[in-house]
Amino acid sequence: MNQDELKKAAARAALAELAALPPHSLIGIGTGSTVDHFIDALAGSGTRIRGAVSSSEASSERLAAHGIPLVRLDDAETLPLYIDGADEIDHGFNMIKGGGGALTREKIIAAAAQRFICICDASKRVATLGRFPLPVEVIPMARVQVAREIVRLTGGEARWREGFITDNGNCILDIHGLAIADPRALESDLNQIAGVVSNGLFARRGADVLLLAAAERVWRGERQSSAASSR
Ligand code: A5P
Repeated sequence: MNQDELKKAAARAALAELAALPPHSLIGIGTGSTVDHFIDALAGSGTRIRGAVSSSEASSERLAAHGIPLVRLDDAETLPLYIDGADEIDHGFNMIKGGGGALTREKIIAAAAQRFICICDASKRVATLGRFPLPVEVIPMARVQVAREIVRLTGGEARWREGFITDNGNCILDIHGLAIADPRALESDLNQIAGVVSNGLFARRGADVLLLAAAERVWRGERQSSAASSR
């Protein structure tokens, strides 16, 4: 199986997670090519949900094209599940996300959800986060100042994702050259820089369940409760 087929397998496996939900539940939907496969699989599955809270314009368009109702987060009284991919995930289910630039809305919806289900192919599993450049969403007028602060804080290289504007009208700096020993601490420290909107470390709110597709099967894992309760 190639990487796209593995993404599709992880996405299909996530349908089973919906079976435990009461009929007509709302779910949160992330962004990216794996989530695109999930949206397509959901639409074709006959699974009855009331609607979806979407993390990006791209996912909203795809959901709408399938006739899946979009619901604003403000109108979602409970959100039992959030389903999203990752750019990297470690053994404690901490993640780097935001390769597609949707990290801020993803983080907001993940924070509101009772359970975060991460779907990805096995290439995303790492021992230490940081080989994938860590995205940081930044207010445009603060870009250069924030880049200097990031270099001072992390020792990494902050590269402007030139020509890219987030759905929130901001820019992205990608931090290259990291090996992240303490994802929770770095997530908090980056958020203290004035001008940072959010960063792509999902450690304070990591995944609860991982569906990881490898050639032989889709592996399902749950985060240890000690890690979950320290959130
Ligand atoms: C979008 O901003 C990201 O957080 C995605 O969830 C992540 O980049 C995974 O994308 P793919 O499913 O396309 O690999």
